[in-house]
Amino acid sequence: MFDNVDFDSIDITQEPPEEEPARQYYFIAKCRKYVKEESERLGRPLFSVVRTFGCQMNARDSEKLSGILNAAGFEETEDENADLVIYNTCTVRDNANQRVYGRLGVLNGYKRRNPHMKICLCGCMMQEPSVIEKIRKSYSFVDLIFGTHNIFKFAQLLVEMYEADGMLIDIWKDTDQIVEKLPVQRKYPFKSGINIMFGCNNFCSYCIVPYVRGRERSREPEEILAEIKALAAEGVVEIMLLGQNVNSYGKNLKNPISFAELLRRVETIEGIERIRFMTSHPKDLSDELISVMKASKKICRHLHLPLQSGSTRILKEMNRRYTKEQYLLLAEKIRKEIPDISITTDIIVGFPGETYEDVLETIDVIKKVQYDNAFTFQYSKRTGTPAAAMENQVDKETVTKHFDEVLSVVQNTAKERAKLLEGVTMDALVEELNEHDKGLVTGRLSNNIIVHFKGTEELIGKIIPVALKECRGFYYLGEMV
Ligand code: 5AD
Ligand code: SF4
Repeated sequence: MFDNVDFDSIDITQEPPEEEPARQYYFIAKCRKYVKEESERLGRPLFSVVRTFGCQMNARDSEKLSGILNAAGFEETEDENADLVIYNTCTVRDNANQRVYGRLGVLNGYKRRNPHMKICLCGCMMQEPSVIEKIRKSYSFVDLIFGTHNIFKFAQLLVEMYEADGMLIDIWKDTDQIVEKLPVQRKYPFKSGINIMFGCNNFCSYCIVPYVRGRERSREPEEILAEIKALAAEGVVEIMLLGQNVNSYGKNLKNPISFAELLRRVETIEGIERIRFMTSHPKDLSDELISVMKASKKICRHLHLPLQSGSTRILKEMNRRYTKEQYLLLAEKIRKEIPDISITTDIIVGFPGETYEDVLETIDVIKKVQYDNAFTFQYSKRTGTPAAAMENQVDKETVTKHFDEVLSVVQNTAKERAKLLEGVTMDALVEELNEHDKGLVTGRLSNNIIVHFKGTEELIGKIIPVALKECRGFYYLGEMV
């Protein structure tokens, strides 16, 4: 996909080209010059660190940031006391924002001792005008701020940052531009995320994503398939197709194509053994998708199907466009067609006006669907969303009480579900050495369950049959067979 460009052969004494991605290659070349000069001055390499907050989309964006920093001549480190630190931020809930502000205080301390340090911020949180105001006022030591729509011009912004005096801010309100073929540095050699679409058009009433990620834009299927083929040629065996609402993929392309059809085409790519995707909106999940999943040898037995609430009344207020009954019917149909599938979900507790009766409806759905796992969140008020203006906000104490109750039901059902696999042998993709015991490796089953078993580093990236011996709550201890 990204043909290894020889950046040092680009003539940076000329004006930059207008077209992308050539323009960014030019700025990478220019950045290399600054990095080289600074590193000669210091007598050591320059170190950079990319820190990711939030979802899989951000994780993928961070790989793009790393790719550019790497091409620009930085060496990657984990230590935030580095020459360049970039935070790729999330704003889906307020605690993500608070963590960033907290960390910025620490970075300020580092920068006082190391004044040439550069601090950059990007991602969803930066799309909010109130955040920019606050950083301008209280965190004036930040060097560069950009948003979600112009991440492709990171190289250019780095150059402008090195040439600027003071804080550089470049935020776009929206874009229809998709720039391909920029360098990417993958975190894992054997698996990768792939953006198939950007943005969201759903406007769930609690959610800030449509405001910070913009309108839905799908990539051309040919571009996606070419990227996956290139990844397979590099040894990637598992891919995750990424979008806020993958089930509406392709509907707005000049030549419309369904998500199910895209999956059919991805399935034919040699070398790719496992296909995952994230996230499915229940209202758009088609029978065609279920039958493609059922027939597939490669699509993983895992479906993330956010419920948000089990109360039809709250779902309506949330603008989710399905009822409790419709969701239950859908889940039932999926379980019937693909019995070995694992269904996971997202749940919000404490949406404005939510009563204990509504919470009981949610618990009822959890028990009926028998989720294999669920992410449970306390409702967080996001300025600018319709739900933030609703008058009947639920008090913190009630939310916590309801949240604890939902969480305990979710955990119990998930444990019961996980236990069902005891004694079964399943394929695991080995992802890493076990964090705590280096004699063990950690693998992931098709259904997304984690298994630890005896093994060595050579197994990483391989798909291995493992007997699931002992269920430890949500994960397994196993043995290679
Ligand atoms: N408060 C709490 N949780 C939220 N989510 C999105 N917006 C909010 C909010 N304002 C949750 C939803 C979504 C997940 C990614 O984050 O459950 O599916
Ligand atoms: Fe947010 Fe709803 Fe879009 Fe998901 S589908 S990103 S919850 S607006």
